[in-house]
Amino acid sequence: MDGHTQRTMPTIALAGGRKQRSLSQCQRPAGWRGRLVLWSMNRRHSRVTDWGLGQVAIRDGDTILDVGCGGGRTVAKLALAAPKGRVHGIDYSPESVAVARRTNRELVEQGLVVIQEASVLDLPFPNDHFDLVTAVETHFWWQDLGAGMKEVFRVLKPGGWLAIVAEFYKGGRHLKYADRLARFTTMAILDVGEHEALFTQAGFGDVRMIEDAARGWLCGVGTKPAGGRTGES
Ligand SMILES: C[S@@+](CC[C@H](N)C(=O)[O-])C[C@H]1O[C@@H](n2cnc3c(N)ncnc32)[C@H](O)[C@@H]1O
Repeated sequence: MDGHTQRTMPTIALAGGRKQRSLSQCQRPAGWRGRLVLWSMNRRHSRVTDWGLGQVAIRDGDTILDVGCGGGRTVAKLALAAPKGRVHGIDYSPESVAVARRTNRELVEQGLVVIQEASVLDLPFPNDHFDLVTAVETHFWWQDLGAGMKEVFRVLKPGGWLAIVAEFYKGGRHLKYADRLARFTTMAILDVGEHEALFTQAGFGDVRMIEDAARGWLCGVGTKPAGGRTGES
């Protein structure tokens, strides 16, 4: 591991049950341990998030959704990139929702950011609503990955984009750490080709997988084709 990897990955040198409790917090943060993990993830995921968001065009007035928003730092970055738009964050952990709201308190008060408790499998939004959906370090924990992708597809406008950003993928340099996490959580670790298939099977077009192999970062992007309207909104 190089210096960067040591900085970005948390130590897991904990004993038995403590280790399990600590690692499972990444999948669904809860209580004070969850809050610590969320604050830590806000810091640790910042650089890979900046890199991932750089792979898609974000316009001033975009309506954006960040799924699995965790502690809310990605939401804050998106709000900065789309100052005339609106950014929603959802997470199925009440602790994540509370921390994300606190991280974005002023923006929430101004009505520019909305954070809600919800699962990616049942998004509380109409069809064809968002210009961009982002998912940072979360998709490998969705209980039904295919169904989550289709639900994201549903809420995207035709021409809208999905960006998935991840450090855990088969063939990536953080796979060893992901394997340890997978012992204590339910994770779907896919390779680059399987990620591409995930996008195309959900109906996305112009699918691109961008990998920074040296840093072990993967970003998958795809668009909802113009003819991909999902019913009436
Ligand atoms: C590792 S954290 C990443 C948080 C944040 N995106 C970041 O980059 O720091 C994963 C987050 O995804 C959320 N999550 C996992 N499965 C989810 C689902 N099915 N629906 C909504 N949120 C989910 C977890 O509660 C957790 O807050």
